[in-house]
Amino acid sequence: MNKRIGILTSGGDCPGLNAIIRAVVKCASHKGWEVYGIPYGTEGFLKLEQGTWQAEDLRLQEYGYNLPGLLQGIDILQFLSGSILGSLSKGNTGDKAIAQTIIQGYKDLELDALIAVGGDGSLDIIYDLAQQGQWNIIAIPKTIDNDVPFTERSIGFRTAVDTVTSALYNLTFTAASHDRTMVVQVMGRDAGHLALHSGIAGGADVILIPELTPQIDANLMNDICIRIAQLRKSGRKFALVIVAEGVKNLQGEKEKYIGDYLAQQIDEISHQLCLTDKPEFCNLDKIETRATVLGHIQRSGTPSSYDRLLAAAFAKKALDLIAEEHYNQLVVWQNGEVQSQPLDKVVAYIKKCHQQGVCPSPINPDGFLVQTARSLGIYLG
Ligand code: F6P
Repeated sequence: MNKRIGILTSGGDCPGLNAIIRAVVKCASHKGWEVYGIPYGTEGFLKLEQGTWQAEDLRLQEYGYNLPGLLQGIDILQFLSGSILGSLSKGNTGDKAIAQTIIQGYKDLELDALIAVGGDGSLDIIYDLAQQGQWNIIAIPKTIDNDVPFTERSIGFRTAVDTVTSALYNLTFTAASHDRTMVVQVMGRDAGHLALHSGIAGGADVILIPELTPQIDANLMNDICIRIAQLRKSGRKFALVIVAEGVKNLQGEKEKYIGDYLAQQIDEISHQLCLTDKPEFCNLDKIETRATVLGHIQRSGTPSSYDRLLAAAFAKKALDLIAEEHYNQLVVWQNGEVQSQPLDKVVAYIKKCHQQGVCPSPINPDGFLVQTARSLGIYLG
């Protein structure tokens, strides 16, 4: 039976969102289904009700655009980061009338199902609306933080790892030219996946992630400076330190620029160590540091082949689930395969984690990647 489905992207953007939109439209059009792109997450339903858009404005098709060259079809999207639909990372306003209008938007569009592409925060909010409005929903995980539970991979993560790894590569040469320690701050509000993966791949000497070093303290700072001094003594005069933004300062508070903070601490403490009776800390005097905050660069860039592949596989699975009318599922990557998990279980778990202030999918402190980093001599706290 032909279906009429909607797709929206919600929460912070990441590379691969357009690749999902493209794959959903292609798979759907081969089934003869119609796809409607909802602009700016669930706010698109509100705007639809308010008359900003008409249903036909939102129709997405594989081909048939009256435009030149590549723009005749939707395939170009697989190469572009961001989301052509726009995305909102605002939380739920809690306004019941707005929620009702959004719910009505889904009904007035006469959708059979909605594909919601989101991270842990947005999936939580959309699922509540879906329950209230009895929407048929399929969720696809996306976030460069890779912290959606029950899936080993979220769209956007691997591209972000490549971006950070390439930044570490670029910083290596300037660091080496000046015998400097480069501190690189990467995203990862509560999770260290991005820092750990790119730190290992990019040759970091120190990796700080919230799962292992929730907060900087005096011992940790000493250890980092000793580690850098040892490197210098052994002949390697530059160092790369990567810190996830979720790591807190000496007072246990989050810093907007924890990278700068850490660089300054390394500067000061290495100098203090040099003044002690341990002269080995004085080789090459005090450590000269520079900090780089990679920021939203990590959320952009051409999606990697892995993320495009994942986008295609997740889109196929989402459409299979809709064809089977097996709704309220999160499409996931587990044990090398695409599977699905019931959203009620996933969202209940996310809510519990948010209430407890813990990350829904942290790095396993005893896991193989942590062991790998340690076995390479990377300092992790
Ligand atoms: O959740 C993904 C993420 O990239 C975090 O790592 C980061 O803290 C946050 O988004 C930043 O979001 P924004 O600046 O868009 O509010």
